[in-house]
Amino acid sequence: MAIISSKKQPQEPNRQPEQPREVAKAPPKENLLQAEAAVDEGKQEESIRPQRFADYIGQKDLKDVLEIAIKAAKSRGEVLDHLLLYGPPGLGKTTMAMILAAEMEVNCKITSAPALERPRDIVGLLVNLKPGDILFIDEIHRLSRMTEEILYPAMEDYRLDITVGKGSSTKTRSIPLSKFTLVGATTRAGALTSPLRDRFGLIQKLRFYEVDELSKIVLRSAQLLQTSVTEDGAAEVARRSRGTPRIANRLLKRVRDYAQVKSFEEINEKVAAEALQLFQVDPCGLDWTDRRMLSVIIENFNGGPVGLETIAAATGEDTQTIEEVYEPYLMQIGYLSRTPRGRIATPTAYKHLGFKPPNEQLSLLP
Ligand SMILES: Nc1ncnc2c1ncn2[C@@H]1O[C@H](COP(=O)(O)OP(=O)(O)OP(=O)(O)O)[C@@H](O)[C@H]1O
Ligand SMILES: [Mg+2]
Repeated sequence: MAIISSKKQPQEPNRQPEQPREVAKAPPKENLLQAEAAVDEGKQEESIRPQRFADYIGQKDLKDVLEIAIKAAKSRGEVLDHLLLYGPPGLGKTTMAMILAAEMEVNCKITSAPALERPRDIVGLLVNLKPGDILFIDEIHRLSRMTEEILYPAMEDYRLDITVGKGSSTKTRSIPLSKFTLVGATTRAGALTSPLRDRFGLIQKLRFYEVDELSKIVLRSAQLLQTSVTEDGAAEVARRSRGTPRIANRLLKRVRDYAQVKSFEEINEKVAAEALQLFQVDPCGLDWTDRRMLSVIIENFNGGPVGLETIAAATGEDTQTIEEVYEPYLMQIGYLSRTPRGRIATPTAYKHLGFKPPNEQLSLLP
């Protein structure tokens, strides 16, 4: 997607730079397009979570790397290297950790950094690991310093260093641990300390899914939910799912409810589109905040460049959420570009929101 940066634009939509207008509040309703799991969603997810490599759709690069790592580790009779998975929420990090355990035929202990506040939390987990086990730590960028320091020798030498005694009689005792694999997941690889990051043998990024991959995920989930969906129905759900399997599965469930209540026998493109329109899911999967961000850039700042702080103030979101949750998808679909001077709305974003792109930008449209 072309990066457009033009200062002199003859056709300027509502010119009122400097301060964005007063922050409008996002509609207080269930957010179908949020990539993070909703509070009560965990259980439902389990029923459709892929269990084996063969069911894990897409992420070819990741699968290729891990398949080789698994084969090599198995043939040498060793444990898998420690693995760091990073990428936006809902793309399949936890799922992959569980699949790895299934493929390696070992146990997977799942925890998350906020649950490991005290040193004894992590110590308890580590000493109970069996040879080859996978320890999955979600949100690993949030580990406390003490917990992190316990992890260093554990990851490097499968050893636990414990300090006993106080003052001058302090001694360090080392306890051997079973060889294990740490799988860390994070939405913010950059927030990891470098000593921790350096101890991972494999660092892999998950990317957003293409529409055809998401369509396959929708068809697979529909089968598990015993719902009849046509290929074009699945594609319609996929297009609105922000490249994210969790959202695709959530939208599928909503469309299923709609089809059931309206007595449609199968979910085709028309039924899916009708249902998702009713739930106010944009044809490209944009939500209120995405639209607000883009329209602020276009209307108040003439398409940009505009700074992150300003966008945050205008949408009422914090800068971190914008950078980690909203921007990656908008950039992926080519609606937003990030430049050193700020964010820019692309001509496709103008068109999607019903604005006329400025002349210079129009000429760059395909
Ligand atoms: N490659 C895939 N193929 C099929 N379904 C998938 C795939 N990846 C994820 N899913 C589905 O999406 C849901 C969310 O995936 P998962 O919980 O692994 O995401 P995550 O990356 O761990 O998210 P978070 O960052 O919020 O922890 C799962 O329930 C699973 O059913
Ligand atoms: Mg997860």
